[in-house]
Amino acid sequence: MGIFKNSEYQNNLQKAANAVVNREELKDKSILITGASGLIGSFMAETLLCMNSMYDTRVRVYATGRSMENLEKRFEDNLDNSFLHLLTYDVDKDIPFDQGFDFIIHAASNAYPAAFSANPVGTITGNVIGTLNLLNYGLSHGTKRLLYVSSGEVYGQLPNDTPMFTEDMSGYVDPTQVRSCYPASKRLAENLCVSFSRQFGLDTVIVRPCHTYGANVTSKDNRATVQFFNDVLNSRDIVLKSEGKPIRSYMYVADSVAAILSVLLVGESGNAYNISNPDSIVSIREFAELTAELSGRKVVIQLPAEKPVDDTPITRQVLCADKLSAIGFRSAFTCREGIESSLAIMKGDQ
Ligand SMILES: NC(=O)c1ccc[n+]([C@@H]2O[C@H](COP(=O)([O-])OP(=O)(O)OC[C@H]3O[C@@H](n4cnc5c(N)ncnc54)[C@H](O)[C@@H]3O)[C@@H](O)[C@H]2O)c1
Repeated sequence: MGIFKNSEYQNNLQKAANAVVNREELKDKSILITGASGLIGSFMAETLLCMNSMYDTRVRVYATGRSMENLEKRFEDNLDNSFLHLLTYDVDKDIPFDQGFDFIIHAASNAYPAAFSANPVGTITGNVIGTLNLLNYGLSHGTKRLLYVSSGEVYGQLPNDTPMFTEDMSGYVDPTQVRSCYPASKRLAENLCVSFSRQFGLDTVIVRPCHTYGANVTSKDNRATVQFFNDVLNSRDIVLKSEGKPIRSYMYVADSVAAILSVLLVGESGNAYNISNPDSIVSIREFAELTAELSGRKVVIQLPAEKPVDDTPITRQVLCADKLSAIGFRSAFTCREGIESSLAIMKGDQ
């Protein structure tokens, strides 16, 4: 039995399934999810399976990833679920299956700093070639809508006093910086979606998640939030390698997935939606302090001699949630509750 069988995790899946706006539109539909071994993709696949049990939605979930071994490991608790189908697929390559899906959600991407820096070209191709392949596939296989999982990083560098980033804003991304492989390719993939829709008529919609965290991260993930969780779970204080002043929108994965599925069902065609929670805007340091406080540890600041090369210069990145709220979505977890839940699941409590 995996740790994801525990009651806290199951409870979160139920909350997410319950929060999806217009979830009845999913009844008897099929959904292809790329990046389904990852944080967002795996929680999404399980939310849909949970929705089937709760509401008899009968959604068929086609969860794809590059490694069948990883998929089978990740979904070990659901391998006998007849609504779950596991498929191997590297989004840089030709699509190795040939069947129609009502919805396609492209969530595969290099998504954390170690992955961008080790494989910037693969980051670009996964976003751009992968999106193009999936758009063509959707068009030729009768897909009703493709949802592209972009990122709040597409905003680039806006003035530091910008209180909130709304979907119509666009800041500076330096194309000569290797670190820009991520935001620049996400931007191009977004534009591919809207251009493809206009030129060929396939319905597309885009989501831009903020910093998303949860217990079901992959083992290689080195995002700051994952490092904080690892520190406290291993009975260590949290070591911050900076003052931790940048302010960020954070969102617990259960809210993020419910919001993304809501946009899939009721988002306006060709539009982009920030995926963020207005009740979860804190500095990196505050996130670390909350994590430490909930675990009886403390935060220690140790500034390195040199600034890390993949550091982002953006000091304030708060994604406005108004457009998401306007489609009827409400987050269920404050930052404290999301961290508390993540830690409980990772510890295997209950
Ligand atoms: N988690 C966040 O904070 C966050 C924020 C903004 C946007 N996003 C976006 O959300 C999506 C999901 O991210 P996540 O947080 O679940 O990351 P993750 O790293 O946990 O999952 C991404 C998955 O994509 C897979 N992948 C990468 N390249 C691939 C390829 N060529 N073919 C097939 N699979 C490939 C990875 O192996 C991984 O399983 C990504 O598009 C990411 O850019 C995430």
